[in-house]
Parts: sequence; structure tokens; C-alpha cells
Amino acid sequence: MQIQSNFSLRNFNTFGLESLASFFAEVRSVGELTEILLDPVWHETPKFILGGGSNVLFTQNVNALVIHPAIKGIDKIREDEDHVWLKVGAGESWHGFVMHCVESNYGGVENLSLIPGTVGAAPMQNIGAYGVEIRDVVESVETVSIEDGQKKVFSNKECAFGYRESVFKKALKNQFVVTGVTFVLNKKPAINVGYGDVQKTLAEMNVSDPTIADVSQAIITIRRSKLPDPAQIGNAGSFFKNPEIPLEQYNPLKNAFPEMPGYPVGETMVKVPAGWLIEQAGWKGYRQGAIGVHQKQALVLVNYGGGNGNEIRDLAGTIQDSVEAKYGIRLSPEVNFV
Ligand code: EPU
Repeated sequence: MQIQSNFSLRNFNTFGLESLASFFAEVRSVGELTEILLDPVWHETPKFILGGGSNVLFTQNVNALVIHPAIKGIDKIREDEDHVWLKVGAGESWHGFVMHCVESNYGGVENLSLIPGTVGAAPMQNIGAYGVEIRDVVESVETVSIEDGQKKVFSNKECAFGYRESVFKKALKNQFVVTGVTFVLNKKPAINVGYGDVQKTLAEMNVSDPTIADVSQAIITIRRSKLPDPAQIGNAGSFFKNPEIPLEQYNPLKNAFPEMPGYPVGETMVKVPAGWLIEQAGWKGYRQGAIGVHQKQALVLVNYGGGNGNEIRDLAGTIQDSVEAKYGIRLSPEVNFV
């Protein structure tokens, strides 16, 4: 295994930001990973695990050994009449895995088509879109402890999944490397098209009795129409989470701003689309030099090329202040700042 020094991470983050890693290693197997974690030469060096880099904002160089899991493989490990269990290497592309499932007619992840990033990164923030989150299909997450190289398998419950959250982002942050994920998928797929524009898009496609391949295609169409392709314009998808506020806070806001959308979360909370708040605060399509706010989706900050992470961080802070001044809601970033 080769360890490179002063390695540019520009091609390893979807914002396309320049940042140098002191050291960089791509690991292709659990054996290679444990070897490097247990090597006394590297023991004291801080480690930073980087998957597809689709949810990070580099604001500086990374003074660490950056480990990029490139563990591949999609293996069927169990099957019964209704379900199939697939164990997938952390380094597989998320969308490639979704396409594998759609082609095999294994239902459960088709609503998560076209999300950038790797399979290993997906459980970190419980990726979700169009009414599905990966917590709905994860059986277990295979990991290795950074400290002692020991393997540990987390059950779905132990992952403590929440909205864009998991134990790996919170209590156990920076302690485990995800090496693989086992998914349980449906051989008799149930279609989930209740969210947003999915049904409308299927109708436009003239599909009345959709297969999971149709649902996947509809979602790809919707995502392409609003979200910038990171290969063309640097971005990390939604930059902020959609805030959840108590009803007592939402009701007076709704009186003052009758157009404000809100989706109930349980009995007492309401989720407000951050994209709406940012758009109403006047930021949609804003551009400042090389960076800005996407024209079609205000929740996405973009690097048109040559921008740097500090500018994006500063713009994010200005947007947070501006939304808070208008609505009294402080947005939290979804993206991880490094
Ligand atoms: N909206 C606006 N203006 C905008 C953007 C959105 O007014 O510029 C409002 C509209 O009212 C719209 C509502 O926000 O109806 C919701 O917008 P959309 O369906 O595009 O979804 P979102 O809440 O902006 C979330 C996820 C996305 C995911 C979509 C679809 C978060 C932070 N983001 O976005 O996830 O693809 O739903 O399920 O939860 C990501 O995490 O990177 C991501 C792209």
C-alpha cells in the first residue's frame, strides 16, 4: 500500500476545493486498513477518514493521515422468499449500488438514486431523499476501530439513526472506519411515491403502474432538474439541514408569513424547508466571485471553480445570520467543516 505525502484532495471532495493532506492512503481491504491502523509508525498520527467527499467543506489543509476506503464488492449473503441481504464494500459508489439493486429488482433504495458519495459514508449521516432514509434498509454496519484495529459490527439500532444523524457523527465521532454495510432489500418491491414531485414526474413519463426502475428514473430526472452535478459545479448537496421547530414557534411565524411551508414531525414539532427560508431571505442565485447559492435550489451552496472553503464558510455564516434575523430560526449546517 502506498502512502503519499502532501496529497491534493481537490479530486476527493465534490466542492472541488484545494486542500493538502499531510499523508494519504487508499485502502483496498480490511486487512490493509488494520495494517495501517496497527502500524506503530502511524499510531500517534491523527487519522481522517474520507469517503466520496460529498459532504465535507475543506477550509484548510488536513494535518492527518487521510484514509480513503476503497473496499469493493457487492455480495449476496442471505436470501429468503421475500428478502435478500447484500453486503457491500464501503468504497462502492452509492449510486452504482442503487443501480445494481434496481437492475436486480431488489426494492428499497430506488428513491435514493443519484446521491453522490460512497456506501461507507452513507450511514454516517443516514442519507435520505424522497421519503426514504437508509436506516429503513440497513441491517448492520461493519467497522474497524481506529484506536486498536478491532472489528465491530453495529446493528441498525446501535447506529442510532436520526434525521441526517447517526452514532458515528455524534457519540462515536472519529472512532470507527466503516468498512462495509449490509442491506436488507425487498424481492417483492413496494413502491414509495408519496413524496413531492415523484408522482407528477411519473405521470409526465406516462407511467401509471411504476416499477422500481421507473421510480429510480423519475428521481434521477427530478434531481438533475434542481441539483447541480458536482462534476460540473462544485457542491455538497444540501448545505443546511431543514430545521425542526416547536409548534409554538411555528404558529406565530405562519401568521406573519402565511406562505411558509411546514411539515409536521410528531405532535409537537414542524419541519420547515431551509431552502424556502434562504430563498425568502433573498439569497437564491446569489453569486460572489467564484462561489454562490444555486439558482434552482437555495439550500445548495456552490463553487463555480476556484473558490475556497473559507469563502463558502463565511457565506454560510452570513446566510445563517440573515435567516435568523428575519425568522428567528438558526440553520445548522449538514455539511462537515474541516
Ligand atoms: N424550497 C424553496 N426554495 C428553494 C428550495 C426549496 O422554496 O430554493 C422549498 C419548497 O417549498 C419545496 C421545499 O422547500 O417544496 C422542499 O424542497 P425539496 O423537495 O427540493 O427538498 P429539500 O427539503 O430542499 C431535502 C433533502 C435533500 C433531498 C430532498 C428530497 C435535507 C437537508 N435535504 O431537500 O437531500 O434530496 O429533500 O427528499 O433534508 C442532501 O441532503 O444533500 C439532499 C440533497
